[in-house]
Amino acid sequence: MEEHVPTPPAVPGLTPQAAAFLASRRVGRLATADAAGRPHVVPICYVLDGASLLLALDEKPKRVDVGRLRRVRNIQENPNVAVVVDDYSEDWSRLAFVLVRGAGSLVRPGEPAHAPAVALLRAKYPHYQAMALEERPLLQIAMTRVAAWGALDAPPPEPLPAERLAFPGIIRGRRSVRAYADRPVPRALVEACLEAAGWAPSPHGRQPWRFALITRPAVKQRLAEAMGAEWQRNLAMDGQPAAVVETRLRKSRERLMNAPVLVLVCLYLADLDAYPDAGRQAAEQTMAVQSLGAAVQNLLLTAYHLGLDGGWMCAPLFCPSVVAAALGLDPALIPHALITLGYAARDPVRRPRRPLSELIVLDE
Ligand SMILES: Cc1cc2nc3c(=O)[nH]c(=O)nc-3n(C[C@H](O)[C@H](O)[C@H](O)COP(=O)(O)O)c2cc1C
Repeated sequence: MEEHVPTPPAVPGLTPQAAAFLASRRVGRLATADAAGRPHVVPICYVLDGASLLLALDEKPKRVDVGRLRRVRNIQENPNVAVVVDDYSEDWSRLAFVLVRGAGSLVRPGEPAHAPAVALLRAKYPHYQAMALEERPLLQIAMTRVAAWGALDAPPPEPLPAERLAFPGIIRGRRSVRAYADRPVPRALVEACLEAAGWAPSPHGRQPWRFALITRPAVKQRLAEAMGAEWQRNLAMDGQPAAVVETRLRKSRERLMNAPVLVLVCLYLADLDAYPDAGRQAAEQTMAVQSLGAAVQNLLLTAYHLGLDGGWMCAPLFCPSVVAAALGLDPALIPHALITLGYAARDPVRRPRRPLSELIVLDE
């Protein structure tokens, strides 16, 4: 249920945005200090009512005399308190917090402010319906000063689903996404993905990968057109009907234009060992390509962990020089894969995996 947002009373710094932020968030941190100034911080559920924050003194799961709670003892010794309510997101353009300073006091059952506060707390937190709040004192924080920072108007961040946070879930959850929502990807997240790519294993630790980042529509279009022309030649060579060629080209172009971020993964061979014989030289190059795959996997897993999704397009492998020319890349960079990044428009259908019994071909 929506908590009402009051017209801001005369609390310095309690702007309508700060009040709306406090009213809409569900958890804050309350700092108290004892007479000697020793600090104590606890998470709190609270409601905003005019110039006060109100919170229940329920002690979950066990019930103790509220007078024994450290936060209550501290307030009785020293009423000065602070509360911070904040938003965290991997997208740091959405960070925000409101800091409240005020004076804490107990509101006992039967006092005029008690019953309305219990009603507000129950409206915001259904868990309180089953708790005997009316029998217990509440804590009132009379706000004296409010400070706010950051993107207060952004909607509260949705917590990432559990599968994106735990390692096995990340491995299985990563999926190839081919359609993205119209939502920009923060640069910091892209850099985190590329940083993770750089930690992949590589032959002699030479890190034979380089990345070209493409976000501007004009550059995406240039790349799409260059690759499209090459692909058209290839499909025509395969004897594909013109209508089929046209549809496939259009879809591929749309896929590039629709992705908020393209990462062109290039092979860079200049730092590899040189061998006098062709066999070992070829193996050295194969190792570099293998490690490129490991780098891309790091990139994709990190993207998924950060709430993004990715897709792997092999097209540059079939026309590396066309791609390099379209982007004006150094000739020592060999385009291998195009990774799309963004927020998935919808959940894609996944391919089932072969059972382990099929994958293990020797076990003795
Ligand atoms: C080397 C490589 C090249 C790929 N190239 C393409 C591609 O050009 N287009 C595409 O849609 N998917 C491409 N994929 C993605 C695969 O189709 C995808 O990983 C596979 O269908 C399994 O789906 P999942 O990634 O959702 O588990 C490529 C994957 C790899 C490893």
